[in-house]
Amino acid sequence: CTRIGLVTSGGDCQGLNAAIRGVGKALIERIDNVEFYGMYDGYRGLIECDYKYMDALDFSGILLDGGTMLGTSRQPYVPGTAIVDEEGNDLMPAMMNTYNRLNLDCLVVMGGNGTQKSAKLLMDAGMNIITLPKTIDNDIWGTDTTFGFQSAIDIGSNVIDYIHSTAQSHGRIFLVELMGRDAGWLALNAGIGSGADVILIPEIPYSIPKIVEAIERRKKMGKNCSIIAVAEGAVSVDDAILTEEERRQARKNSTHSTITYKLASELEKITGQEARVTVPGHYQRGGPPCPYDRVLATQFGAAAAELIATKQYGNMVGMQGGKIVTVPLVDAASRTKFLPLDNDLIKTARDIGISFGD
Ligand code: F6P
Repeated sequence: CTRIGLVTSGGDCQGLNAAIRGVGKALIERIDNVEFYGMYDGYRGLIECDYKYMDALDFSGILLDGGTMLGTSRQPYVPGTAIVDEEGNDLMPAMMNTYNRLNLDCLVVMGGNGTQKSAKLLMDAGMNIITLPKTIDNDIWGTDTTFGFQSAIDIGSNVIDYIHSTAQSHGRIFLVELMGRDAGWLALNAGIGSGADVILIPEIPYSIPKIVEAIERRKKMGKNCSIIAVAEGAVSVDDAILTEEERRQARKNSTHSTITYKLASELEKITGQEARVTVPGHYQRGGPPCPYDRVLATQFGAAAAELIATKQYGNMVGMQGGKIVTVPLVDAASRTKFLPLDNDLIKTARDIGISFGD
């Protein structure tokens, strides 16, 4: 009998259930005798041996479901070294205990950057691991795209689509803050997809005079409103000297929305035009996956099943150039995938006159 553990960890996103379904269905098709143990609430289930025994019926009828049927949690983590609880106690022995007790052949871990790093530690400790890249942020190294990302783009674009008419009616500047953590993928795509005039992303520090310039340019053209898509990790040129960790701390202390509200009031003062802020927040992570993510998560799930069947452990499934690929977990967990400045979409945006405030 082949015994598989399933873990969904970190912030949820659309497509997690579709991926669980993909892994389950594909393994049932491939292997005669297979058992599934779904860990509740991410690594917590593995630590506390709290799981759900799953069979074929559990993998049916969940393709469109948002969130994760297994629940998820964020695990305290010390970069590169250990998975610990709040008191700093090493949680690896407890996780290893569950793995051995259930006699697992492999643990399939679905998660974002933090989860990939933790999964690598489990691999280093001797577990057979396959990971799938999930996040609305699209910031996982080794894959062009992650499930959840396209659904969040759709929602982010939709929010901005609806802002256009009210911005125009009132002749206002609107700042729409989009998630994405320290990367600008979501804001860039949602901004272009919904006709934003300015897009602020962490990879291109902005200056307020440059944003004002873009707004004034629109006014001269006869446009009484301007829409600014702000990535939650966007930084001004003044803050660009801070390290990534310092920026994260600054955001923790004030939440990025505060920074966006401050920017709105600065713009209002300088331009004399009313400014408003919309923060869709976790709405971007909720609801059913879009069809693209359903397909992608299913592909990733089926690819994970193939890696299990051929015992190719220690890998993340990814997508590169439209092809499903296998990425060593050591590489996938090693760094964050930021938007490269020569990214084609940045060029496209500039080509049509979208300002990055630089
Ligand atoms: O990583 C996904 C994400 O939604 C980020 O875009 C965002 O910064 C963060 O998670 C929010 O985390 P939480 O759900 O813990 O508030």
